[in-house]
Amino acid sequence: MAIQDQIREIREEIESGIGSYSTSKELYEFRKTFLDNKEGKISQIMKGMKDVPKEDRPAVGKIINEIKEWATSAFDAADKKLHAAELAAKNAAEAIDVTMPAVRETVGGLHPDTLVCNELIEIFSGMGFEIYEGSEIESDYYNFTALNTPADHPARDMQDTFYLSEGFLLRTQTSAGQIHVMENKKPPIKILSPGKVFRSDDDATHSPMFSQMEGLVVDKGISVCDLQGMLDTFSSRIFGEGVKTRLRPSYFPFTEPSVEVDVSCFACGGKGCKLCKGTGWIEVLGAGIVNHRVLENCGIDSTEYSGFAFGMGVERIAMLKYGINNIKNLFESDVRFAKQFKD
Ligand code: DAH
Repeated sequence: MAIQDQIREIREEIESGIGSYSTSKELYEFRKTFLDNKEGKISQIMKGMKDVPKEDRPAVGKIINEIKEWATSAFDAADKKLHAAELAAKNAAEAIDVTMPAVRETVGGLHPDTLVCNELIEIFSGMGFEIYEGSEIESDYYNFTALNTPADHPARDMQDTFYLSEGFLLRTQTSAGQIHVMENKKPPIKILSPGKVFRSDDDATHSPMFSQMEGLVVDKGISVCDLQGMLDTFSSRIFGEGVKTRLRPSYFPFTEPSVEVDVSCFACGGKGCKLCKGTGWIEVLGAGIVNHRVLENCGIDSTEYSGFAFGMGVERIAMLKYGINNIKNLFESDVRFAKQFKD
């Protein structure tokens, strides 16, 4: 076919095809079939120049250049149009309505349990207590036996235990940590052990899982006076200036003597109200002088050393402090409840 005819065909092909593409990428592929340096149809025609008689070459060269220039500008123009349309579509898709009301950013707060735990840790670490976190799965030995509560001891009935397998259980009390600490460290010992504990117990003030905070101090010459002094500092810091403590005799196998610790009612100042059930006092924790048997079980000479221990329920403190009347509120994750607490 004569070069002039080939060029006419190319022109027609471009003219009929160029408007049918909707993306610049497709158009680019179409463009390549004509203008690609090696394979393009126009480049192919140029290669045919060698067969054109010498005298015709300038004229033929001119029309090849013309078609090349024409095709280049036709494709550039079509490409410009498609690019503009693509950009407009992209901008439309990414458009933001600046008049729309903003989504309100909410800031989370700490759970009341965490707030109380943090506060207790701050108070006790200020008094020189180190933190010891034990494990939630314990052996019967650490949770009971070493704490002077052997099998068949009636005190085991005080705590309804979840047994996992023979000899293993979910700890019922953070007191188990006392044994681990005393086995591994010589006095002086001054530790605070926070953590989750588990009991088969469920009502308005009891949950099968709750948190405790255990304290243990062992040194030479530790007495009930040290315990009482520390408790006074603790209760005025957590419940407010002027709150006093009193000790009532009680029983725990791992302490002798054992006490139940009451604080003077911080709601009524001790006059008697609904919170303290008219007594002026609120029970907050158990404590006592570490039973010499417990010290001996851990290889500590009880003629040389003595200690005091205490254990409190974190939820109980949180419920008292924030006036929460059902422990379930603490575990149901209802945001209406949770968002009332801020650091
Ligand atoms: N472990 C006791 C409980 O869970 C609380 C307790 C009482 C801990 C007296 C102590 C203590 O360290 O001395 O009921």
